[in-house]
Amino acid sequence: MPYTPTGYNSYDFANRRHIGPSPEEMAEMLEVIGVSSLDELIDQTVPASIRQKDALDWEPMTEYALLQKMRKVAGKNKVMTSLIGQGFYGTVTPPAIQRNILENPAWYTAYTPYQPEIAQGRLEALLNFQTMVADLTGLEIANASLLDEATACAEAMTMAQRVAKSKATAFFVDENCHPQNIAVMQTRAAPLGIEVIVGAPEDLEADKVFGAIFQYPGTYGHIRDFTAEMEALHAAKAVGIVATDLLALTLIKEPGAMGADIAVGSAQRFGVPMGYGGPHAAFMSCRDAFKRAMPGRIVGVSVDALGNKAYRLSLQTREQHIRREKATSNVCTAQALLAVMASFYAVFHGPRGLRSIAEMIHFHAGTLAKGLREAGFNVETESFFDTVTVEVGPFQKAIMKSAVAEGINLRAVGESRIGISVDEIVDHKLVEAVWKAFGVKAKAPQWLGTDRKLTSVLELNFPEEMLRRSEYLTHPIFHMNRAEAEMMRYMRRLADRDLALDRAMIPLGSCTMKLNAAVEMMPVTWPEFGTMHPFAPRDQAKGYAKMIEDLSAKLCEITGYDAMSMQPNSGAQGEYAGLLTIAAYHKARGDHHRDICLIPVSAHGTNPASAQMAGMKVVVVKSAENGDVDLEDFRAKAEAAGENLAACMITYPSTHGVFEETVREVCEITHQYGGQVYLDGANLNAMVGLAKPGEIGSDVSHLNLHKTFCIPHGGGGPGMGPIGVKAHLAPYLPGHPEAEGAEGPVSAVPYGSASILPISWAYVLMMGGAGLTQATKVAILNANYIAARLAGAYDVLFKGGNGRVAHECILDTRPFAESAGITVDDIAKRLMDSGFHAPTMSWPVAGTLMVEPTESETKAELDRFIEAMLSIRAEIADVEEGRIDPLNNPLKHAPHTVASLVGEWDRPYSREQGCFPPGAFRVDKYWPPVARVDNVFGDRNLVCTCPPLEDYLDAAE
Ligand SMILES: Cc1ncc(COP(=O)(O)O)c(C=O)c1O
Repeated sequence: MPYTPTGYNSYDFANRRHIGPSPEEMAEMLEVIGVSSLDELIDQTVPASIRQKDALDWEPMTEYALLQKMRKVAGKNKVMTSLIGQGFYGTVTPPAIQRNILENPAWYTAYTPYQPEIAQGRLEALLNFQTMVADLTGLEIANASLLDEATACAEAMTMAQRVAKSKATAFFVDENCHPQNIAVMQTRAAPLGIEVIVGAPEDLEADKVFGAIFQYPGTYGHIRDFTAEMEALHAAKAVGIVATDLLALTLIKEPGAMGADIAVGSAQRFGVPMGYGGPHAAFMSCRDAFKRAMPGRIVGVSVDALGNKAYRLSLQTREQHIRREKATSNVCTAQALLAVMASFYAVFHGPRGLRSIAEMIHFHAGTLAKGLREAGFNVETESFFDTVTVEVGPFQKAIMKSAVAEGINLRAVGESRIGISVDEIVDHKLVEAVWKAFGVKAKAPQWLGTDRKLTSVLELNFPEEMLRRSEYLTHPIFHMNRAEAEMMRYMRRLADRDLALDRAMIPLGSCTMKLNAAVEMMPVTWPEFGTMHPFAPRDQAKGYAKMIEDLSAKLCEITGYDAMSMQPNSGAQGEYAGLLTIAAYHKARGDHHRDICLIPVSAHGTNPASAQMAGMKVVVVKSAENGDVDLEDFRAKAEAAGENLAACMITYPSTHGVFEETVREVCEITHQYGGQVYLDGANLNAMVGLAKPGEIGSDVSHLNLHKTFCIPHGGGGPGMGPIGVKAHLAPYLPGHPEAEGAEGPVSAVPYGSASILPISWAYVLMMGGAGLTQATKVAILNANYIAARLAGAYDVLFKGGNGRVAHECILDTRPFAESAGITVDDIAKRLMDSGFHAPTMSWPVAGTLMVEPTESETKAELDRFIEAMLSIRAEIADVEEGRIDPLNNPLKHAPHTVASLVGEWDRPYSREQGCFPPGAFRVDKYWPPVARVDNVFGDRNLVCTCPPLEDYLDAAE
């Protein structure tokens, strides 16, 4: 019998899975807004003058087909044992950490912990990370991660310049630093006028520099004591930095014991796969005296309104927004998720476990070197932990080739040497296989260090003076029972304290907290992507090459640019790379003088911070009454800059959430004076499929793949900030010593955080061109629906010509400070009682809330948020109209915790009203674990390592 099919595509990823509202819900929402169709709304919102002509047109894929394709592409990557070292090592990710952290949306979909009351779990894990780094490096204070080791070196260099009393302008770099670290420091130094002197440690002339960096174990494996160099530097009022390795520090003398002021490095080998170079957490620690000059975020300990211990981000948390071009650095998104993984690796193994892993590595490295020496090879490295360099004369290529035949990658050093770095994956068989590649046939001894009965003393391959004498990881958190049951529950307990996307919408303006679909995340943990060393031979990384090529092509098509650089590993890093590209272009044309960058006052704080790092002078452009760039002011400042104009940095749609009609004019004026247009692509979610930055006059943009293209925020990183450029800028994109390109690198590796690129690729493939365009339209629909439903209760600060907002809207909460003494903070905290993360607070306009719902949220979730906001407005009215005390009301006491519910209740409102406002779920209620956190107390009493055991008793109960 014939029948009529249902006409429903169950496998339509874009419309069934990624986009929240159903067609029926959309129809209801459009009615509320007062338009008859989605296209009518878009026509009223996005100026015709900027609309793209051709639709994005690739076909969508199903989740199943996507996974099959991914498997095929992953299969083109060769899984090898890479003993290349150079800052990247094989590691065993404990499965409990892989499953409970890396593959757990409670951890990976969280946002940067700016709202500490709903982020206590990840703040504790990050505090563990800081404690671990401070302990292992022997310095007093550590931050909560940086982007990669090479940029951490560069950050340390500029930090040294800020804190050094020496007025010298040169900086000394030990030639034993990894080549990419040296190259990134050189890139960073040039625009700042810092002279970089690269040489052997003996060449250091301390009185000629403001600081110096040494690496140990060095890139060729050597371990050296830099105590004398540190003393010389201090005598010259200069700053001493070491780049080092956390695992090595469990055995060898720590930087603090050498007198170092700052230590940096990578925590990659603490359980984070190499992933073709990233993402991993870099670390930085320093003397207490320098803490206020430290880049990145620092977690600190404070108290809440009830006097209980509470964690928070301290000191310079939002310093780019406050200090702008005077900020200490442009680091915004860092590597929170990877720092959390590394900290759990340390909790999981404890100090004895880590030391035992290090001993095992050291034992095998020693065996390997001994065997090669006995066979007559010249092993150059005398004093080493895990890495040796062997002089092999004309046999380099042949040995490397035989190693590859054994499934092993070694490092080619120059033309005649080979580097071998032993890692956690090693065993005696691997040692034998390496020997075989060198033509040595012998049996290697097994590691028996875990045998309690072992009485023999093993051989150290470095001088006794270099042994570590001090204790580390003494805090009880690193000594908890390591049974997986206990570990799993600890990870769960921390996750449960946090509010991430797996519980509720996170309507953070400019942050685009959209769905990170499970299927997009899956390939990230496949070994074909995870085990790849960033400097592995290219012919082993064909899968990565294919993915990067296709993703780049699609991003070019989406943006209207001609070339992409996948090197920057955050948005701010993209800004910096883009501005360097512009600067290199001007220089190549002989325009050395062009150094002025026009930036609207409303720009994100990283814009001016990046411009300053790129050696540009920031000139601020005013905003007009309606929030747009003040065109007259812009023209006047461009004219005044004249032939010194290097660039302008604009954000489109603007940070005010509006598609400015004048964007083309802004671009034209910039070009008229010979400048280049940098369009900050953080808001690309409002443009994909509708308008292309490259077609409206922009020359370069960064794209936040961790916003528009579905890479999760990970509680403050990882991210990817590739830059797209027009053809004339393509020759000036960042290069890399291990890849091509004449310009210097901005990141440690050629493809930034390559192992999370499958997420964005999967997204664009499954959505297809039409799906991506529909997502943009629905993002605009959702924002306009919220604006329409909240009209009358809250003023929307900026709107476009037809009264529409783009993909986000700014709610003006400033009047309530005057009418009721209720601040934007009170509203943000009260939203937590309803189970929401607050919208972006006080940016770009102080005292306001910027709401960005994204396309992934359903109408039901939007309505829940709207209900919560309307009820807050009613509570404000209660204060305004004298029905409740201005200082003793649910807004001022928010958020409400279980402790407040069961404690004395002498408040003029009910427990029911306090704890279960509209929007809050009854059974599945999210309870913030702490009441409002006292920021001032935290900054006055700065504690940035784990507090004493007694404070943990609550948690253990
Ligand atoms: C408008 C804008 N530009 C730049 C950035 C910086 O991006 P990232 O945090 O990845 O460095 C952000 C981040 O929130 C942003 O909102």
